[in-house]
Amino acid sequence: MSKNAETLAAQIKELAGDAPVQIGLILGSGLGHIADTVDGVAIPYDALPGFPHAGVSGHNPNLVIGTLEGVRVAVFGGRAHYYESGRGDAMRLPLEVLKALGADQVIATNAAGSLRADMPTGSIMCLTDHINFSGLNPLIGEKSDARFVSMHNAYDADLREALKQAALASDVDMHEGIYTWYSGPSFETPAEIRAIRMLGSDAVGMSTVPEVILARFLGLRTAAISTITNMAEGLGTEAISHEHTKNMAPLGASKLEKVLRRYLRVNF
Ligand code: HPA
Repeated sequence: MSKNAETLAAQIKELAGDAPVQIGLILGSGLGHIADTVDGVAIPYDALPGFPHAGVSGHNPNLVIGTLEGVRVAVFGGRAHYYESGRGDAMRLPLEVLKALGADQVIATNAAGSLRADMPTGSIMCLTDHINFSGLNPLIGEKSDARFVSMHNAYDADLREALKQAALASDVDMHEGIYTWYSGPSFETPAEIRAIRMLGSDAVGMSTVPEVILARFLGLRTAAISTITNMAEGLGTEAISHEHTKNMAPLGASKLEKVLRRYLRVNF
């Protein structure tokens, strides 16, 4: 844990109280509104030295510490993406801070394109695994042997099962599948999508994978859920754009919110 993370955690506790955080939630494009429903304190990333300037529209660059469904949460209203700065480890400090605040698990959410006809826009998908197609790794440059982190059970089977039960109980149809990370910010070509479809991908996006690697490095249990905002390039008729992503995210976001709320209510 870096000294910086400990200092920031102390600063955050002064503002938001020192009850330990039980879980971190990272919100993807168009999902930032969930942060507004937390009963707690919103701290702008700008007030936290070293935090990313989550500069992508559709994100809500606040860390909100408080209570959601009776659970002490830390909600990251926005994330930093590799494509914003060229830094693969842009979310390392926020995740270190999450750990220093007491959390032992994190659920990441994202907007993604679908590679499956049975998983159209508005669906949600719980990640079972990922393919890192970016050629990058957020642990490059880490000096300790801890950098050789195992990706076995990276998407924690127990957390996934609990999320699945939460979806069933909420009457939400939640798919499961493999997410592939391309760096962005340009969207994929049809050929790139065909390539990863052959390799077994179910969804594609520009985030989450580096955070999951960092979270596992830090010993946090992880799960992740995508909201499908479009069919991946070449597979549908929609024109893909960031505007379209933001417009479509609310379709799946209401399902995702139901699942997360139920998960929190039942599992803590
Ligand atoms: N590709 C990459 N990232 C995305 C997509 C996509 O099709 N949709 C939403 N985020």
